[in-house]
Amino acid sequence: MDVDLIIHSATQLCTIPPYAGGPQRSDHLGDLGLILDGALVVNKRRVVATGTTPEVRAHFRAAREINARGRVVCPGFVDPHTHLVWAGDRAAEFEQRVAGATYMEIMASGGGIMSTVRATRAASTSTLIAETRARLDRMLAHGTTTVEVKTGYGLETATELRQLEAIAALDRAHPATLVPTFLGAHAIPAEYRQSPQAYVDLLITEMLPAVADKARELGLAQLPFCDVFCETGAFDLAQSRAILEAAQRMGFPLKIHADEFAPLGGTRLAVDLHATSADHLVTTPPDEIAALGAAQTVAVSLPATPFGLGHHDYTPARALLAAGGALALATDCNPGTAWTESMPFIIALACRYLHLTPAQALVAATLNAACAVGLGDKVGSLTPGYAADILVLDLPDYRHLGYRFGGNPVAGVIKHGEIVIGTL
Ligand code: NIG
Ligand code: FE
Repeated sequence: MDVDLIIHSATQLCTIPPYAGGPQRSDHLGDLGLILDGALVVNKRRVVATGTTPEVRAHFRAAREINARGRVVCPGFVDPHTHLVWAGDRAAEFEQRVAGATYMEIMASGGGIMSTVRATRAASTSTLIAETRARLDRMLAHGTTTVEVKTGYGLETATELRQLEAIAALDRAHPATLVPTFLGAHAIPAEYRQSPQAYVDLLITEMLPAVADKARELGLAQLPFCDVFCETGAFDLAQSRAILEAAQRMGFPLKIHADEFAPLGGTRLAVDLHATSADHLVTTPPDEIAALGAAQTVAVSLPATPFGLGHHDYTPARALLAAGGALALATDCNPGTAWTESMPFIIALACRYLHLTPAQALVAATLNAACAVGLGDKVGSLTPGYAADILVLDLPDYRHLGYRFGGNPVAGVIKHGEIVIGTL
């Protein structure tokens, strides 16, 4: 059969098989579907076959070939939790934190998220697009081919909608696929400090319907996710429930920021509402870990956040897996707690602080991450039928992911069957 592309002679090809069409859960996590001297066949933007190089050569002839000898080939990374659309930076706050101020103290004194909200409101949409594009370029260069992107630095209808427009524009213009999330419930904006309930009402009665209208106007295939920062100083459990239930009634799929600092019950709420994912999960109590482990909701761990804050507590990943859970990894890329565009760095952190093996971390950064954004049947695996989103890593063995850190192992990135990074 004649096909568009064959990648052959990979020292290790990691196909990362889905389990029952979904994530690798519990002790199944870490099945790389490894093929030595592997080859991969791409036709019309999709994977059509995998096997050893001799097997593939016996059946296919390609217009173009890539020799991956001495290299690892795996699916493109999926980054399922980022706050990528913002203006400016918070380097001055970082300096204060290093000198001893806490993230919550800075937030309570009007800095933190509100400081980025002020900069984002003041920026034009084209500035937002330009600043976000630079971050997306770095993500793609580090191997991320699909990325979830949240709003949440507008906290007023017009700016939240401009953030959504920026996400949609970049999805069209950039090689990476962007998955939008509405996070109008990221903080109580300063002008509602005295009447937080009025902001919750605004979210429900004005902002969510406006987001649904905007999604239709932008021609999005489906509604964005709706996310809430359930946290002391942000939205309490009752407010989080009210917002997420209203969103669910309007047809939004759900996500939640739960247990980043204080355990408010957000993880159980995510399970109750069948949220697609529950994210952060640092201070989650054991009974809620057990409930999450038994649920379909994917647990998204963001180890760059405690690392970025200089904290010592991380997601209890092994307990979550022991409870039967599906674990994914993300950067949380944002200007306050975790400015990194690199999934390889997240894998290195996860091996050390979540005690994942490199194989477990790689699956959590690909297939399981895709499941955390509802795309587990389309990306994150090199099974026939999946998108031809492929990395060629300049590593002799997949375990060098995690083992080595601080550099960029990506030699080439293929998106929908086309080379978008590297010469290969
Ligand atoms: O995931 N938790 C809330 N949001 C971000 C921080 C955002 C910011 O500080 O700007 C987080 O850590
Ligand atoms: Fe976040």
